[in-house]
Amino acid sequence: MVNASTLLGVVLLARHGDRLEFFQDPLTYNPAQTFLTPLGSVQELQLGSFLRSQYLDPRSPTFLNGISYDVANITQLNVRADGGGEGAVILESVYGLLGGLFPPTTDNNITLANGTTIVSPFGGYQYIPVESVEQNLDISLNSFTSCPNFDNHISQFYSSGPFLAEAAIAAPFLQNLQPFLGNRSTNFTNMFNIFDYVNVQSIHNATFFNQLQAALPTANAQAYGFANFHEGGVFSDGSPSGIGNIAIRTIVPSIISSLQGFASGGPVKLMLNEISYKPFISFFNVTQAAASQPLLNGIVDYASAVAIELHTSRNATSEPTVYVRFKNGTTDPTFHDVQIFGQRSLPLSQFVSKLAPIAVNTTQQWCTACNQTSLRGCSVFQ
Ligand SMILES: *[C@@H]1O[C@H](CO)[C@@H](O)[C@H](O)[C@H]1NC(C)=O
Ligand SMILES: *[C@@H]1O[C@H](CO)[C@@H](O)[C@H](O)[C@H]1NC(C)=O
Ligand SMILES: *[C@@H]1O[C@H](CO)[C@@H](O)[C@H](O)[C@H]1NC(C)=O
Ligand SMILES: *[C@@H]1O[C@H](CO)[C@@H](O)[C@H](O)[C@H]1NC(C)=O
Ligand SMILES: *[C@@H]1O[C@H](CO)[C@@H](O)[C@H](O)[C@H]1NC(C)=O
Ligand SMILES: *[C@@H]1O[C@H](CO)[C@@H](O)[C@H](O)[C@H]1NC(C)=O
Ligand SMILES: *[C@@H]1O[C@H](CO)[C@@H](O)[C@H](O)[C@H]1NC(C)=O
Ligand SMILES: *[C@@H]1O[C@H](CO)[C@@H](O)[C@H](O)[C@H]1NC(C)=O
Ligand SMILES: *[C@@H]1O[C@H](CO)[C@@H](O)[C@H](O)[C@H]1NC(C)=O
Ligand SMILES: *[C@@H]1O[C@H](CO)[C@@H](O)[C@H](O)[C@H]1NC(C)=O
Ligand SMILES: *[C@@H]1O[C@H](CO)[C@@H](O)[C@H](O)[C@H]1NC(C)=O
Repeated sequence: MVNASTLLGVVLLARHGDRLEFFQDPLTYNPAQTFLTPLGSVQELQLGSFLRSQYLDPRSPTFLNGISYDVANITQLNVRADGGGEGAVILESVYGLLGGLFPPTTDNNITLANGTTIVSPFGGYQYIPVESVEQNLDISLNSFTSCPNFDNHISQFYSSGPFLAEAAIAAPFLQNLQPFLGNRSTNFTNMFNIFDYVNVQSIHNATFFNQLQAALPTANAQAYGFANFHEGGVFSDGSPSGIGNIAIRTIVPSIISSLQGFASGGPVKLMLNEISYKPFISFFNVTQAAASQPLLNGIVDYASAVAIELHTSRNATSEPTVYVRFKNGTTDPTFHDVQIFGQRSLPLSQFVSKLAPIAVNTTQQWCTACNQTSLRGCSVFQ
């Protein structure tokens, strides 16, 4: 079969689906437990089906050449999920996504010596291994908690001129919103939690939704806008190698090694990182994507995905090229091209040379970058 796709491999960053309220300490981002909802699982399944249509359909212009697309070949897949932070929300989300990416198929069968053919359970369900990245064993997918220098960065942002100015703009809105917030603090430092509460209640609680719409019809959009400012500042930095970008700097090593693996014809063709919204913000900051598309400096919707694609050059003498695409949650029907470093695409070596200098490659480097001496495995380096 002839197909025109030039895709060698793809690294995916995917956000978890709809969940219950998620409280994070505004000074440290230490999380409280929360739970994925059935809606969240459906959103992830839809994302997985979408990704299947892009990468696992031989008719797609971005079909992943050489991948086993009906029955999964687990040697070709590398799937990791942030096991910290939101409790099991992210790990559970990835199972939904994988269910859409590789749906059950009766082709997932085997014929035994006695002549009987056995199809795997649930009509051919495909069990794909997921590495749960436990934060106390591996800092890579959840590197922004227990990081004293990141806490300092947060405090500096909270005392900065732009933050105090935005807080003053938000103050009258938050005062009007207060009756809807239970006893939650309306201090602007708490803006993520305020937005999250309003957003979660508006999705799940008809009484709340109707009362808020009647009293403050633009409250959801306003809370989202202010939370985007807040999170955009917390999870970015004036310098790409600044601690504010730590959430992506610890993922950069696996992005680079995966792309290099695709280029050298390694077995893995699809790498999936299931994560929270934070590394997205840092990714769009360090790749300068948010500079040309300011909306990217905020909280991506549930079940959003970034695809970092490596394509062979159509010019056989030049090296493979990196493209980035983004889909903003379930309501966004498709991927959108993202400009990185001011360009539509970059040769692999240039992409690597821009990101390698900001990579935090090891736990020990993270301990130093964070000034953490005891937690998350740092005590052994003392
Ligand atoms: C088993 O899988 C093969 C493809 O590998 C397919 O042709 C066959 O129909 C399947 N058998 C059953 C019983 O589903
Ligand atoms: C063949 O072996 C399988 C697994 O032990 C069993 O379920 C099935 O009934 C056997 N079929 C026959 C015809 O004996
Ligand atoms: C708010 O706090 C007050 C006093 O601490 C308490 O009486 C009240 O029940 C709280 N309300 C809610 C909604 O938690
Ligand atoms: C808001 O919270 C910050 C951080 O806890 C604190 O420093 C500040 O005093 C609070 N502002 C008000 C008006 O309470
Ligand atoms: C739903 O919202 C109403 C109005 O704000 C509130 O009284 C109620 O406690 C909420 N229910 C839940 C389950 O949170
Ligand atoms: C799975 O993929 C690997 C790497 O491409 C390949 O070596 C292996 O033969 C494949 N396994 C099956 C069962 O197709
Ligand atoms: C990255 O974020 C910082 C701080 O929010 C901002 O000053 C800078 O302009 C951003 N960089 C780009 C390229 O968007
Ligand atoms: C994502 O979608 C929401 C609406 O669902 C929108 O408000 C937000 O600006 C979008 N973000 C980006 C980066 O497109
Ligand atoms: C292929 O790319 C190389 C390196 O960018 C360039 O020197 C060469 O002229 C290109 N060849 C064609 C046929 O475009
Ligand atoms: C991290 O690894 C990259 C190669 O991927 C290398 O270029 C960079 O210097 C390393 N950084 C540190 C701090 O060791
Ligand atoms: C690292 O943290 C210690 C306290 O644990 C503090 O005394 C020291 O000044 C910090 N070092 C830097 C470079 O911030």
